[in-house]
This record gives sequence, structure tokens and C-alpha cells, in this order.
Amino acid sequence: MCSIKALLATALLTVAHVEAQAPLNVEQSTGFNSSFALSTSQIESANLSSTAANNINIAINFDRSQLANGGPAEDSFYELPPLSGTPVPGTLLKVQEFTNTSYFVIPPNTALSRILYTTSNLNGTVVPASAFILWPFTPKRFQAGNYSASTKAPAVVWTHGTEGFFASAGPSTHRALWYGHDGPFALALAGYAVVAPDYAGLGIHKSWDGSDIPHQYLMSQTSGHDALYALQASLEAFPEVLDERFVVMGHSQGGGVAWGVAEVLEAKGDGEFKRLAKGYLGTIAASPTTNAFIGQIEYLLPWIGMILPSIFPDFNISAWLTPLGIARTKLLQEVEGGIAVSTQLFLSGDKIIQDDYDKTWYVDAYGKLANAGGKPFKGPLLVIHGTEDYYIPENATATTVQATCEAVPEGDLEYLVVNGTWHVPTLDATRQTWLKWIEDRFEGRALEKTGCVKSSLESFLPLERYQATGKSFPQFAGLPEFNYQVPLGL
Ligand SMILES: *[C@@H]1O[C@H](CO)[C@@H](O)[C@H](O)[C@H]1NC(C)=O
Ligand SMILES: *[C@@H]1O[C@H](CO)[C@@H](O)[C@H](O)[C@H]1NC(C)=O
Ligand SMILES: *[C@@H]1O[C@H](CO)[C@@H](O)[C@H](O)[C@H]1NC(C)=O
Ligand SMILES: *[C@@H]1O[C@H](CO)[C@@H](O)[C@H](O)[C@H]1NC(C)=O
Ligand SMILES: *[C@@H]1O[C@H](CO)[C@@H](O)[C@H](O)[C@H]1NC(C)=O
Ligand SMILES: *[C@@H]1O[C@H](CO)[C@@H](O)[C@H](O)[C@H]1NC(C)=O
Ligand SMILES: *[C@@H]1O[C@H](CO)[C@@H](O)[C@H](O)[C@H]1NC(C)=O
Ligand SMILES: *[C@@H]1O[C@H](CO)[C@@H](O)[C@H](O)[C@H]1NC(C)=O
Repeated sequence: MCSIKALLATALLTVAHVEAQAPLNVEQSTGFNSSFALSTSQIESANLSSTAANNINIAINFDRSQLANGGPAEDSFYELPPLSGTPVPGTLLKVQEFTNTSYFVIPPNTALSRILYTTSNLNGTVVPASAFILWPFTPKRFQAGNYSASTKAPAVVWTHGTEGFFASAGPSTHRALWYGHDGPFALALAGYAVVAPDYAGLGIHKSWDGSDIPHQYLMSQTSGHDALYALQASLEAFPEVLDERFVVMGHSQGGGVAWGVAEVLEAKGDGEFKRLAKGYLGTIAASPTTNAFIGQIEYLLPWIGMILPSIFPDFNISAWLTPLGIARTKLLQEVEGGIAVSTQLFLSGDKIIQDDYDKTWYVDAYGKLANAGGKPFKGPLLVIHGTEDYYIPENATATTVQATCEAVPEGDLEYLVVNGTWHVPTLDATRQTWLKWIEDRFEGRALEKTGCVKSSLESFLPLERYQATGKSFPQFAGLPEFNYQVPLGL
């Protein structure tokens, strides 16, 4: 009993005024553009209670309602153009210069483009992938540095946190681009062109030969390649308007990916990514995943386990999951579930994890391949973490930072710890900090603190007076009958 409570206890490291916890699935709107229901056999095979089944139906209908134009299965943008010749990674395959955003909920006076391009997975197989570019109304202009003369838009490569594991979990198909105001909207409204990969396996999930493209979850450098190739292809698609100088910023899974980009640029900045490396100004890794098996293990083992055969063909998921866990993972795949569905399937308190999963060779081997940190990186690197993070404990990031500082003492790494903030909301609390940091890099300012440094941020008012999490979501209101929701067109 209560393994969840025990996990919660380990995740809470400092005095908490509000106890962080997994989100509940409660119905918030009936205006869903979907009417999915689990079948009786699906409910039985995953041994779900009627409450859990109902919650899953609600979560899936909500998730599917968030797909603009019905998602990749129905949106012709995601149809692959025919393959010509042997594909090399970083090739531009398709440009949708103007994405009709009537079915998105992006801020007024931002504009969207989308591209298809090629990237490579862990073993070097070249696969197609998708990305979006969110454009500002007015590009950010800088007061100092040689950037001030540019007529193009400065770029931030945005690497998103976990949305899911299947085609429909690509942010380029999500009405609010998944992170909304916590990431891409804030950056575009501040004047940056936001170049955002979906990561291989999301958005596009079948290659030219019809084979599945696994989303190699938490493989920070592999997804880091997706990000760099997305930038390369975007520069080819928009040479007149997209500047070659860029900062990389990501959160959670994408915090690990951003860090992975900094490592890839250090390792290959004189080789494959030489041209891109010239424009590189630095990386922000917020609430990053740097240890694949720390955090909510009930989520992580099914999520990683289901793609592990694409990395270790001999892996048998029964080494990690109980028969019930395997049945629920199968259901997750069938319904293309994301985080909310996973919460119902895996955090129910039922036994889905094998006790001795951590004795398997795969845990260590996967961690070595996947994890960011402890290696040379191309700086500067700003790492940000909130102390009340339920998904990724702050001390896990502290450990990675320390290992990195020991391995690369001359590297410029600032570790900013925010007292009292949760996982995604840490981005809201630190918005001014990261926007200023990005601006400083474009203005060519020297770092305020060089080398490995730790800093901290406290709330202005007493912590308990702040709203700790988001309580609303961008809901589509574009059809005439919903227009009352956007009076004055806001
Ligand atoms: C299925 O759920 C029921 C009710 O919660 C429980 O008694 C039973 O042990 C579960 N079966 C399996 C295989 O987990
Ligand atoms: C609603 O979903 C249908 C398919 O299920 C899709 O064709 C349509 O584009 C969606 N509507 C909106 C407004 O996204
Ligand atoms: C965008 O799509 C909407 C809905 O289909 C359509 O009414 C509108 O004309 C389109 N806008 C442009 C500029 O194509
Ligand atoms: C801008 O300045 C930086 C640092 O002073 C220099 O490395 C870079 O080459 C300059 N770029 C351009 C386009 O002049
Ligand atoms: C590489 O991975 C893909 C799956 O992503 C697999 O189909 C292919 O056989 C692998 N190739 C090698 C050489 O391991
Ligand atoms: C995985 O392991 C289970 C239990 O040891 C076994 O029954 C099953 O056949 C194995 N699956 C494969 C594909 O080897
Ligand atoms: C983080 O703190 C928890 C609770 O004190 C502890 O169990 C865990 O081992 C620590 N993890 C790391 C990576 O230091
Ligand atoms: C964090 O905030 C709490 C609550 O306001 C306070 O008690 C604590 O001293 C702060 N921690 C640090 C390290 O400043």
C-alpha cells in the first residue's frame, strides 16, 4: 500500500507549504471535440475500475480535443513527401510557411510555420521528423553587441518537456504548442523566433518504408540531434528571416535535451555541426531530466520499457513490469495515451513494477546512453530547478551539476535553485531571469559569474501567498458558438 505516498515523501525535500502531488483527472469542460470510450475488453485486459476507466475516457477526450486539425492522423501536413535518394540527417523535406492557426490557440499576432525534416535515431538510422517555428510580430532588437544590426529574427531553439510518446504527442499539432505561455508563447512575445522540434517519433511516427519510428524517450543527445537538425532545416527554409545566432532552452525532458545539445555541440561543433556552432550563444536547462530513473518510477519504467527494444533488441519488458503493468502499457500504446492517461494507469497504487527491476543490466546501460551531465559541454549553461519539484527532485539535478562541475571545472555552469516552486511553474517564477539571460547572450555581454556557480532565488512575497500551479488551460474557442469566450478577440 501507499508506495505513492512513500514516493511523495522522497520527492519533497524541503518544508512544503502546499504538498506537491500528481494531477487529478477531473472533468473541466464538456466542449470536447472527441467522443472516445474504452471498450469493455480494454477495460478488462488492463483490470481497470470503472472510475479509472471513466477518468481515462475524460483524459483522452481532452487530449484529443487539443489536437489542431484532428492531429497528425488527419492533418495532411504530416504526410511524408516521397524519398529521393539516400536521406542524410538535417535535410529539409517540407515547408508549411504559413500554418493556418484558426484551430490553434496561440497568442494574437504571433505566426506559425511548420517543417518536416530528417534526423537520426540513436543507432544512426535516418528518420523523418516534424517541427514548428513560432514567429514574433516584431523581432527582438538589441542595444549592444554586433547583433543590433541584424534584420532577421533571433532564434531560441525550444525543447519541450514530455507530452507523450506517440504521433499525436508532437507539440506542432497541439493547439497551444503544448507548453503555451510557459515556453514558446513567452519567447515569441518577447521577440524571438521559436524553433521547436517535436523529437523523432512524435508528430511523424512512420518512416518511408512504413516502419515505426520509436520516440527514444529521455535519450538527451539523440533528441539533441533532433533539435540541431530542426534548426539546420529551419535555417534552410527561412534564410531571409531566421538569424543564425541562437540560444537553446528546454524544460524537463527538454531540459535534458537542451543540455544534450550543449554536449553534442562540444563534441561535434568542429565537425558535423560546425556551421550551427558558430551561431550558438548558450543553453538554459530548466527542471532537467538528467537521470532517467529518478523521479516517478511508476511512470518511467513503462515509458522507457516500451521503446527499449529499439535500443536493446533483447530487452523483455517483463524484467521491469508485472503482467498487470505490461497489460496497462499495452493499453497506453493502443490509445496513444499521454501523461494524464499514464497517471490513471500507473499511479493507481496497483503493483505494476517488478521489485528487482533495478538489478537488471538495462537500467545502468540505458542511463549511461540517455543521461545528460557529467561530460564536457559547450557553455555557457544555465540550469534552473525548483525545490518543490514533484517529478524531478531538485537534489537529482544538484548531483548532476556537481558531477559536471567536477568533470569540467573550467565550464561556465550556473545552477539557479528556486525556493518553493514546482516543476513547470518554475518557468513562470523565473521568466524574467531567463529572458534577461537570453538577451545578455545576444548582446554579447560577459557572464556575471563564470565557472561553476550556484545561485538562488526567493519569492518576493511570502511563498504561501503565491499560486503554486496553473489552474486553466488554453481551450479552443474559435467556432462561432464559442465566441463568447473571447470577447474583443483576446
Ligand atoms: C484486478 O483488480 C481487482 C480489484 O481491484 C483486484 O482484486 C485483482 O487482484 C486485480 N487483478 C490483477 C491481476 O491485478
Ligand atoms: C475535430 O476533430 C475532427 C476529427 O475528429 C477534425 O476533423 C476537426 O478538424 C477537429 N476540429 C477542430 C476545430 O480541430
Ligand atoms: C484558415 O482556415 C479557416 C477555417 O478553415 C478559413 O476560414 C480561413 O479562410 C483560413 N485562412 C486563410 C488565411 O487561409
Ligand atoms: C560578433 O561578435 C562576436 C564576439 O565579439 C564575434 O565572435 C562574431 O564573429 C561577431 N559576429 C559577426 C557576424 O560579426
Ligand atoms: C536501428 O534502430 C531501428 C529502430 O529504430 C531498427 O529498425 C534498426 O534495425 C536498427 N539498426 C541497427 C543497425 O541496429
Ligand atoms: C519475456 O519473458 C517472459 C517471462 O519470462 C516470457 O514468458 C516471454 O516469452 C518473454 N518474451 C519474449 C518475447 O521473449
Ligand atoms: C534526494 O533526497 C532524497 C530524500 O532525502 C534521497 O532519498 C535521495 O537519495 C536523494 N537523491 C540524490 C540523487 O541525492
Ligand atoms: C525557503 O522558503 C521557506 C518558506 O518561505 C523558508 O522557510 C526557507 O528558509 C527558505 N529556504 C531557503 C534556503 O532560503
